[in-house]
Amino acid sequence: MAIPKKEPLEEVKFEDSSVAKPNRTQTGIPGLDDLLGGGIPEGNLVVVSGDPGAGKTSFCIEFLYNGVVKYGENGVYISLEESEPEIVKQAAYYGFDFIPLIKDRRLKIETIQLYDFEKLKNAIEETVDSVKARRIVIDPGVVFRLFFEKELEARKSILDLGRMLKRLGGTTIITNEITLENSHSLFGLEEYVADGVVLLYHTKIENRFIRSVGVLKMRGTKISEKLHPLELGLNGLKVLSKQELFEEL
Ligand SMILES: Nc1ncnc2c1ncn2[C@@H]1O[C@H](COP(=O)(O)OP(=O)(O)OP(=O)(O)O)[C@@H](O)[C@H]1O
Ligand SMILES: [Mg+2]
Repeated sequence: MAIPKKEPLEEVKFEDSSVAKPNRTQTGIPGLDDLLGGGIPEGNLVVVSGDPGAGKTSFCIEFLYNGVVKYGENGVYISLEESEPEIVKQAAYYGFDFIPLIKDRRLKIETIQLYDFEKLKNAIEETVDSVKARRIVIDPGVVFRLFFEKELEARKSILDLGRMLKRLGGTTIITNEITLENSHSLFGLEEYVADGVVLLYHTKIENRFIRSVGVLKMRGTKISEKLHPLELGLNGLKVLSKQELFEEL
């Protein structure tokens, strides 16, 4: 009996799929949207993880500034650590003037002390509603874990927060800090709630640190699986999307 010839598997291309393509929320960070098939799918919740000083806050600032100025999307910055003047100052360092955006109610920075998780959720919802935000930042999200004594409680509450953020419909960035002990996990948030994970790294090469960015996952998106060099300069972040890390070394 003749063995039926195996048909070659058809290559599935996201671009050709009949499934509706999501609208993309462009970060506007030079080079980054190229790694994301044009941007973050609208309404996704993305965890930006990085070691100290890797550029997480800078990422959030630029995401919100570009949202208003380039794409006409209002934003909120929920800060769990820094005050509004501190964030405004850091934005100004990169040449992003937050003051007129705040005056025009296109951007709202809210510093919230995390002493009651339910109140935090309500405050986030009110702030987002107050400017009809399409972009939401929670920085540093890592402090959630300090709030809860029990891991189970933390997981449940963070899942709940994730669901609420999804319901609000904006594209959300939550920052997370990577330490050696805790690779890149935010109490299950990444695994269960986050649609995407972007990693910002410092890699030590001989006597210097090199910055890089990688996309660990992004639902609904064909992503670059490589680490790409990242520059953090006077104009903010810049991803060298056509280069791979170590290529130039
Ligand atoms: N106002 C500033 N003056 C000088 N350098 C700055 C300033 N703001 C940011 N930088 C540079 O950008 C880097 C990244 O800062 P950023 O606050 O975005 O990182 P981060 O990942 O949020 O850090 P952290 O872990 O402290 O929250 C700093 O280490 C510094 O080199
Ligand atoms: Mg920070």
